[in-house]
Amino acid sequence: MRDVLELAAGPAEHAREFARRGVAATALDLHPAMCAYAARRAKEEGVGLDVVQEDMTAFALGRRFDLVVTMLDSTSHLMTLDAFTAHLDRAAEHLRPGGLYVVEMSHPRDRLSDDPSVSTGWTVERGDVRATVRWGEPSDRLDPVTQVSDDHVTMTVSGGGAGAGRG
Ligand SMILES: C[S@@+](CC[C@H](N)C(=O)[O-])C[C@H]1O[C@@H](n2cnc3c(N)ncnc32)[C@H](O)[C@@H]1O
Repeated sequence: MRDVLELAAGPAEHAREFARRGVAATALDLHPAMCAYAARRAKEEGVGLDVVQEDMTAFALGRRFDLVVTMLDSTSHLMTLDAFTAHLDRAAEHLRPGGLYVVEMSHPRDRLSDDPSVSTGWTVERGDVRATVRWGEPSDRLDPVTQVSDDHVTMTVSGGGAGAGRG
C-alpha cells in the first residue's frame, strides 16, 4: 500500500500511525483546531502528514489513494441520508481502482438494547488535572425512523485551579 486518506481524522491517530509505518498519509477534518492539532502532533513526532481542512461530504483533492478510512464512528456526524451518500461518493472518487474504503461505525443494535454498548467512560490525567468523560447514558435512545440519537456526554474536570468543573 502506497498511501492512505483518513477522513474526519480529528487528531489523526490512524493517519500518523500509517505515516510511522512508511505509508504516505493525508488527514482531512472540518475543524481548523483539529487540523492544527494533527499537524502539530505529526511535527513533534517527526512523521510526514498532509493535513487538509475540508468537509468529508464535499472535498475534491484531485488525487486518489490506495486506502480511505473513517474511524471511531465519525460518520455519525452525517445527520442525513443525503450527507451520507455524498460522503460515500467523495470517498469513492478518491480511491484508485481496487482501492479499499474502511469505515468503522456502531450498529443500530448497539443502541437499542436495555444496556447500549456505546455507553462508555474514561479518565485522562495530565499534571494535576484529571478529566473524566462519560459518553452515553442507558436512557439515551436511537430514533429508529430518523436513526438519529440524542446522546448525553458528561465531562468532569478536577484540579488545575479555577477552570475545573462539570459540563
Ligand atoms: C470523534 S472525532 C475524530 C475521531 C477520529 N476519526 C479517530 O478515529 O480518532 C470526529 C471528528 O469528525 C470531524 N467532523 C465532523 N463533521 C465533519 C465533516 N462534515 N467533515 C469532516 N470532518 C468532520 C470533527 O471535526 C471531529 O474532529
